[in-house]
Amino acid sequence: MVKVTRRRFLEDSLLVATAALVGTDGIGSALAQEPKTPNTTRTVGPNDRIRLAQIGMHGRGMAHLDGYLGQKDATVVAICDIDQHVTANAAKVIEKKSGKAPRIYQDLRQLYEDKEVDAVSMALPIHWHSLAAIWAMQAGKDVYVEKPVCHNLFEAQRMIEAPQKLSRICQAGTQSRSHKAVQEAVAYIHAGKIGKVYLARGLCYKPRGSIGIQPDGPVPAGVDYNIWLGPAPERPFNPNRFHYNWHWFWDYGAGDLGNQGIHQMDIARWALNKTELPNSVVSLGGRFGYVDQGETPNTELTLFDYGDAQLIFEVRGLKTDALKGVKIGDIVYGEHGYVAFTGDYGKAAAFDNDGKVVQEFRGSGDHFRNYLDAIRSRKTSDLHAPVAEGARSSALCHLGNISYRLGSPVPLSDKTNHFGSSKDAAETFDRFEQHLSDNGVKLERETYRLGRALKINAQNWNFGNDQEANALLTRKYRAPFVVPEKL
Ligand SMILES: NC(=O)c1ccc[n+]([C@@H]2O[C@H](COP(=O)([O-])OP(=O)(O)OC[C@H]3O[C@@H](n4cnc5c(N)ncnc54)[C@H](O)[C@@H]3O)[C@@H](O)[C@H]2O)c1
Repeated sequence: MVKVTRRRFLEDSLLVATAALVGTDGIGSALAQEPKTPNTTRTVGPNDRIRLAQIGMHGRGMAHLDGYLGQKDATVVAICDIDQHVTANAAKVIEKKSGKAPRIYQDLRQLYEDKEVDAVSMALPIHWHSLAAIWAMQAGKDVYVEKPVCHNLFEAQRMIEAPQKLSRICQAGTQSRSHKAVQEAVAYIHAGKIGKVYLARGLCYKPRGSIGIQPDGPVPAGVDYNIWLGPAPERPFNPNRFHYNWHWFWDYGAGDLGNQGIHQMDIARWALNKTELPNSVVSLGGRFGYVDQGETPNTELTLFDYGDAQLIFEVRGLKTDALKGVKIGDIVYGEHGYVAFTGDYGKAAAFDNDGKVVQEFRGSGDHFRNYLDAIRSRKTSDLHAPVAEGARSSALCHLGNISYRLGSPVPLSDKTNHFGSSKDAAETFDRFEQHLSDNGVKLERETYRLGRALKINAQNWNFGNDQEANALLTRKYRAPFVVPEKL
């Protein structure tokens, strides 16, 4: 239960004053407090129409709306975004399709007090996902939360606990888990059809251009920047750190490893059948090919060691060829062959060791429908992507980034092997260098960032005595936007 203490209230008042000074429009600031005591949102029964609210609708959120507006047993009754332009646009779309305008909110805490909302669906910047999801569940709402479902490992743990402790349904936005082709290909691997699995490769070969450099500037009219910042540190508004491009800043995003890459990370971990954290992680890379404001690497190679298997993840943001026909997808290797998952989640194929196709998998699925079905059945086991699974895969992305962030520059000309005895990782590193060279990066002159090789205490979800690394397991939350330690 969320209580507003006197101290919190004072902190809040201070925050409102500060926000006013830095020029936020004050609309949300006036409401800057945690959501009130959970209301008595009903639990949806088998014959009830599900009353949905969509939170965040700039890009992905519009795809959510599309996914719900065609469903016969659900109505989008409310929408919420800190940007009034976004809500105005979405409201028109809803009204046109359903004939009825939704209620509009700018502050999700007000939305959570709306008793006529059963469930929410959210497509927010990553730094908001866990807090928004947990507050929603505390207010009695079921939740669909986009990927990655958390911004750090502390939040991942809370997301694993939350649905059970708060008796709510919570679906992660890793929609590939609803696709028949992916489900069947993973089942094929789990049934031992390619023999013992020793390596899963996740590939995010997705070219990304420069975001340039933009000066800080005034908060656009109709935007509540204080709420947008939420748990992140106070900072002046910058258009490059706002809609979509926040992905490339550590305070809000997780680079492409946690943006596109989380989908492929999830399939890789699922195929390996691992629920525990790996024994170790090491990540390296850089932001190559241009100079811009982004902080996260556009090229990142990460090795996770599970003892009996490895997971190797490659992010390539510059132009690149495919690997075995895969650009955005996974390749999972066993003793007798491999399975390749391609980017659209509707296709996968198994090959023998000579590269001959032995089985094909086809078929898509409706992840939003699966969420609605589970809201009705009240069974987490009916969800294709229970948030605990999303949180475990998201945690891997954050582990890779923690290693990377603790790294230091190494000349690309340095040929030292940093991957121990892993031949697969060493081969991947050679391709990493070749790919950079193909993109005009001068190997003899430039450096990459070699992350710290981190040993993981899988039971405690930390790095043992490595305090510098442990500090990156969580963040300093900006009150009152604090993810609770205890639910
Ligand atoms: N599953 C997928 O295939 C898929 C595809 C694209 C994006 N995504 C995920 O969806 C999320 C959103 O991505 P996007 O590209 O739409 O980002 P975006 O920045 O374009 O849109 C986010 C929206 O959320 C709003 N917002 C921010 N904080 C808010 C708050 N506290 N309350 C209400 N509204 C708030 C913003 O104003 C914006 O309109 C990300 O987590 C991304 O990883 C998933």
